[in-house]
Amino acid sequence: MTGTPRHFLNLDDFTGGELRGMLELARELKTGLAEGKRPQLLKDKVLAMIFERQSTRTRVSFDVGMRQLGGETLMLSGQEMQLAREETLEDTARVMSRYVDAIMIRILSHQDLLDLAGAATVPVINGLTRRAHPCQVMADVMTFEEHRGNIRGAKIAWVGDSNNVLASWVNAAELFGCSLSIAVPEDYWPEKDLMGDIQNAGDAVRLITDPHEAVRDADLVITDTWVSMGDTDAAERRRDLKPYRVDTNLMAGASKDALFMHCLPAHRGDEVTDEVIDGPQSVVFDEAENRLHAQKAILCWAFGVGNL
Ligand code: CP
Ligand code: NVA
Repeated sequence: MTGTPRHFLNLDDFTGGELRGMLELARELKTGLAEGKRPQLLKDKVLAMIFERQSTRTRVSFDVGMRQLGGETLMLSGQEMQLAREETLEDTARVMSRYVDAIMIRILSHQDLLDLAGAATVPVINGLTRRAHPCQVMADVMTFEEHRGNIRGAKIAWVGDSNNVLASWVNAAELFGCSLSIAVPEDYWPEKDLMGDIQNAGDAVRLITDPHEAVRDADLVITDTWVSMGDTDAAERRRDLKPYRVDTNLMAGASKDALFMHCLPAHRGDEVTDEVIDGPQSVVFDEAENRLHAQKAILCWAFGVGNL
């Protein structure tokens, strides 16, 4: 690839219009696939996928997405690479850029992602860091809009821990023009970077401690695991976050037709009850499916194909 590579690292690197363009392509690809259309937009391209941590949805959806677009993937575990023997991210990026057409990486340190992207000469896609999970939230916005139409002006509630998925939702609220009420216990409030993003978002995003207040009249209620990859204090978290469990009582305070989302994997009985996640308001499996379609559009954007 010549010129500056098109990385997909964080939602706030984009305008709302650019992200909307990707979502429109995602919708077209999804509709087309249901009619048996598989445009070979990435024929013969190779995506390397590096996983420093576990994944089900991200690895399978990127793999299948590349195949549907005519490309191929290489699945690499960080532990099996020389990265685990302290080869630098930069050297790894330089070498891999000579072999493959794009890199998707899941790595806890956001700085490591940025270092890799800074040295890569092919597109790099963020498959989750401790700081952000932008591919997930693209699928979430797509899912909301499939069920409820344009997300502009919608009231979104986040309940539970403060983490990477929330951080990308803070960016999405600003970029897509919706409001976001976040309920997190004070001891778990975000660190500097995310706190700064919340403050900069102005009135559209508010951080409070009361989950009932956060979900009042919400069009969408979201939660996520209380113990993210890299967290070491699981027992304390499960104790402290218990009042933030999303159950039918909490959902009853949201708008009558509010949707429920969770990026999965879910810890049933902790952050969400079976009744809610398996109930009529839950769209968690549509959300998981849309990882595939949203990421195909992100890949097309990164390669500059599909009119993006
Ligand atoms: N939601 C998500 O990223 O799932 P995986 O960890 O299974 O990839
Ligand atoms: N917040 C979770 C998301 C998993 C997809 C984690 O970082 O583990």
